[in-house]
Amino acid sequence: MASKVIKGGTVVTADLTYRADVRIDGGRIIEIGPDLSGDEVLDATGCYVMPGGIDPHVHLEMPFMGTYSADDFESGTRAALAGGTTMVVDFCLPSPGQSLLEALTMWDNKSTRANCDYSFHMAITWWGEQVFNDMEAVVRDKGINSFKHFMAYKGALMVDDDEMFASFQRCAELGALPMVHAENGDVVAQLQAKLMAEGNDGPEAHAYSRPAEVEGEATNRAIMIADMAGVPLYVVHTSCEQAHEAIRRAKQNGIRCYGEPLIQHLTLDESEYRHPDWDHAARRVMSPPFRNKKHQDSLWAGLQAGTLQVVATDHCAFTTEQKRTGLGDFTKIPNGTGGLEDRMPMLWTHGVATGRLTMNEFVAVTSTNIAKILNMYPKKGAILVGADADLVVWDPEKEKTISAATQQSAIDYNVFEGKAVKGLPRFTLTRGEVAIDDGAVKTREGHGKFVARQPFQAVNTALSTWKELTSPRKVERSGIPRSGV
Ligand code: URP
Ligand code: ZN
Ligand code: ZN
Ligand code: ZN
Repeated sequence: MASKVIKGGTVVTADLTYRADVRIDGGRIIEIGPDLSGDEVLDATGCYVMPGGIDPHVHLEMPFMGTYSADDFESGTRAALAGGTTMVVDFCLPSPGQSLLEALTMWDNKSTRANCDYSFHMAITWWGEQVFNDMEAVVRDKGINSFKHFMAYKGALMVDDDEMFASFQRCAELGALPMVHAENGDVVAQLQAKLMAEGNDGPEAHAYSRPAEVEGEATNRAIMIADMAGVPLYVVHTSCEQAHEAIRRAKQNGIRCYGEPLIQHLTLDESEYRHPDWDHAARRVMSPPFRNKKHQDSLWAGLQAGTLQVVATDHCAFTTEQKRTGLGDFTKIPNGTGGLEDRMPMLWTHGVATGRLTMNEFVAVTSTNIAKILNMYPKKGAILVGADADLVVWDPEKEKTISAATQQSAIDYNVFEGKAVKGLPRFTLTRGEVAIDDGAVKTREGHGKFVARQPFQAVNTALSTWKELTSPRKVERSGIPRSGV
């Protein structure tokens, strides 16, 4: 591969902003500095050169609620690159009774079509000796060190507290990171049944069945269980003040936990579910549901305060036809929305351009923080010599109106339809290859590689040290009173 130089831009990382050129060879950054030259020049005049986005929460071709999510690893990663995201992390979901390693083979096969690099989280969807043993192989041999637990979707993906505590303790031993979808699945199931019995069968009932308390309670419970297991915790799709409050309070008490708002929850609200058009409302059905401004303000404040660390999408796209499975019964509407192509432009427009986030905070929450949390920094999430050349040359003046008609995603609508964004990629590079060139899509199917990650992030080591120091110890006593005296 000929060397490339990104010239005339301003490098923006999570902690620095400075004028420099960036030279790339062999898929990596090899030099950063003034007046560099290379075989090919990419003009970054007027642009910010940032680490490519990392979306740690996507579901591509996911088997769920009787169907498969419509974007696969090809269209999903093409959408990602078009929006400046250069890496995704998908969830491997074993079916009940299935070995983790067998499920992983299925995910390995699906992901060969990826246009950008990717990794996996492993979901713990059932519990038993085989899962306990497989977890070690997944961490040690497969380079996967994060395990997702669904506290909702009763009767399908949900695990109970006893299973969660057992799995969290196993994560602690293996130096892995447990993650939770935090909603009280038992309460949701009862609310769903009640709403349906009362004739409340439309998509708006989806939101009524998952109030913020359901999420706040589960978030707090998971944090406490993780703390007792001596392991950090990553809470996916944190959507409300109650959940944020639990995370905030825990962090103030020294507990290591992370919260991940989605771009959808930051920018779309619950009024979407009251739309008179059934399709419009059903297309926005996801869990947790969109919420009101009070919750949105809380999430923005969390990103500003650092109590929430990552902005993701939970990209899980279903077509209108798939959504219509739930006509007459909202509990059958496949849960999930898209967002991969829109996360970075929407966050820039509603975060950086409004002054709610600095450019450096933008890089932190879209890339660097999660690279550190998932133990793949500085290979990913950094602009440093030796790092992968996963980069976005960001043009703050470039504008568009989001529309399904021009998107990369395979579905027939976009939940951000009609939203104007300002701030888009001029170039997106995946390991040095230009995938997006001023709007032209030059992605290469199969270019993406699996990113193996090591266990024992620094926080895991610190927590297990503390757990060991404070573990129960028998008090050795000399003068033991004799019984019956
Ligand atoms: O509604 C959602 N979020 N669908 C995807 C699966 C999940 O819960 O993350
Ligand atoms: Zn149980
Ligand atoms: Zn979830
Ligand atoms: Zn998800």
